[in-house]
Amino acid sequence: MNVFMKKFGIILLLFSFFRGQMVQSVPYDHTASIEASVYGLFLQICLSNPMIPLYSGGVIKNSEFNVGLTDWTVPLGVQATVNRSSSGNKFAEARTDGQPSRTVYQTVQMQPNTHYSLSAWLQVSAGTANVMAVVRTPDGQFVAAGATVAKSGCWSMIKGGMTSYSSGQGQLYFEADAAVAIWVDSVSLQPFTFDEWDAHRQQQSAGRARRSTLGVVVARGTDGAPVPNATVTAELLRPGFPFGNAMTREILDNPAYEQWFTSRFTVATFENEMKWYATEGRQGHEDYRVPDAMLALAERHGVRVRGHNVFWDDQSTQMAWVRSLGPDELRAAMDKRLRSVVSRYGGGKVIGWDVVNENLHWSFYEGKLGPDASPAIYHQVGKIDGETPLFMNEFNTVEQPVDMSAMASKYVAKMNQIRSFPGNGGLKLAVGLESHFGATPNIPFMRATLDTLAQLKLPIWLTEIDVANGTNQAQHLEEVLREGYGHPNVDGMVMWAAWHATGCYVMCLTDDEFKNLAVGDVVDKLIAEWRTHPVAAATTDADGVVELDLAHGEYNVTVTHPSLVSSAVRTLTVDASSSSSENAIDIRV
Ligand SMILES: *[C@@H]1O[C@H](CO)[C@@H](O)[C@H](O)[C@H]1NC(C)=O
Ligand SMILES: *[C@@H]1O[C@H](CO)[C@@H](O)[C@H](O)[C@H]1NC(C)=O
Ligand SMILES: *[C@@H]1O[C@H](CO)[C@@H](O)[C@H](O)[C@H]1NC(C)=O
Ligand SMILES: *[C@@H]1O[C@H](CO)[C@@H](O)[C@H](O)[C@H]1NC(C)=O
Repeated sequence: MNVFMKKFGIILLLFSFFRGQMVQSVPYDHTASIEASVYGLFLQICLSNPMIPLYSGGVIKNSEFNVGLTDWTVPLGVQATVNRSSSGNKFAEARTDGQPSRTVYQTVQMQPNTHYSLSAWLQVSAGTANVMAVVRTPDGQFVAAGATVAKSGCWSMIKGGMTSYSSGQGQLYFEADAAVAIWVDSVSLQPFTFDEWDAHRQQQSAGRARRSTLGVVVARGTDGAPVPNATVTAELLRPGFPFGNAMTREILDNPAYEQWFTSRFTVATFENEMKWYATEGRQGHEDYRVPDAMLALAERHGVRVRGHNVFWDDQSTQMAWVRSLGPDELRAAMDKRLRSVVSRYGGGKVIGWDVVNENLHWSFYEGKLGPDASPAIYHQVGKIDGETPLFMNEFNTVEQPVDMSAMASKYVAKMNQIRSFPGNGGLKLAVGLESHFGATPNIPFMRATLDTLAQLKLPIWLTEIDVANGTNQAQHLEEVLREGYGHPNVDGMVMWAAWHATGCYVMCLTDDEFKNLAVGDVVDKLIAEWRTHPVAAATTDADGVVELDLAHGEYNVTVTHPSLVSSAVRTLTVDASSSSSENAIDIRV
């Protein structure tokens, strides 16, 4: 019997492009600006004129006020004029007798079951003011569609949106919570059908950000001759997009829970077990047995863990012994806590730190130690663990625009305070958005806010996703998860649906036997969908070439050919950077 020793070289050429059926529609515009929402005078960048309106204004007429107040209405109690900048840009200026201050408004014809993407530029006559965009819908509801901090002397972009469920006339206006004149310009309201909206996620965003088309060239190792008719298959070993859930200590002695969790998720956040009150309930008595065991369990299954959290700025979550400390004692206790938890789980054991949890809403540490408490803590954590991303982690930023304390412009200002603190220039910072949604999430607002925060140029994770119970909870959860996965700037998602024998926080995915509820079915459907590949097996052509269209992740790529005694397998990672690299693999058979 002749034994042929053949050497095959597999050259993997990765190139990323998208092909497929496109829903014909106006492409979604991710443009956003955070120029005016900077922290500290030395960073102040001001736009003396706003940018042109997105979508040329969409359904808004005279969106740049180039023909005076035509198509706009002046509300009762408001005096409005069109003013112009020194360079000639025109804008509307409105003064209100009393508060809230309002702008001119425009009446538009709205469509039912339609998402509206909103943007505008704002400035106020003095100081700063919280400005909210409001849409009065055809069925008479007042819907908050976006919010920003507007300043005097700088144009600020507001980006948001809302969904109309009825048809008829709607009105768009802006209102401020201070007695100021409001300037407005470059107003845009662009409708998208639900199908168009979904096409943006599936085709434009998720299609590009989460997949690559892998060109595989199979060539003979001895002389480089192409090998036609070889079968190339790709088997996903681990999805590249991190998707996880919150985990509780009950997993340690519940094999059904362990099996359920680890067969689905690649990321976990411990619900409470790593928090300060869990590891040092009595001052000086540290006990890490539970989080150590949970981390070991996660590691056994290849589940990565987010470090949640080093500190939590909420007064009500502080232990009595912490609350009673004076500033110097508090600093010492914090220093001990920080060193202990960060050195224990830093350096790669956790994949991110929620450093000062919820420091937009709360200010326990700022109250005790001064306004720079947060940046100083990030500084300390970064000194001990310089590799792991340091997150802000906040609720209501991406959920809805009514909570003025956590709007995107305030998130950006806080992040800029942290990164402009002396010595913090090199920190690996990241954006954590908790994503605790109400019963009817505002999906266009969510996308717009992600666009705005993407301007920070930092990794963005949705860290604690849930949707309040109500009608269609499962459908709403699906929309939120699709929106996060479909946004090109979201780098990972974790849900806040930790199982407890005593009931979940707001959303259980399963019953007590780990049988899916409706929301659990949605999660499993999406996990399966995100693992599928449009093309994961093909036969090489006359040039020895196949193309595989793969979701990012870790794969075993297998080559079989009649002349090969056994198939050749190589493990490789397909990610966004794959498209620019070239891998040559030699296989001896
Ligand atoms: C008109 O705009 C200019 C800035 O371009 C501003 O200085 C001036 O105060 C505005 N006029 C009024 C009446 O507010
Ligand atoms: C291609 O491979 C198959 C088996 O995988 C074989 O049956 C067939 O004859 C081959 N065709 C050519 C043209 O080599
Ligand atoms: C969730 O909401 C639905 C509809 O509003 C209701 O029928 C159901 O009982 C609620 N479930 C729980 C667990 O509260
Ligand atoms: C992937 O391939 C490697 C060899 O490259 C092999 O050891 C491993 O078992 C394969 N994994 C699966 C799941 O087939």
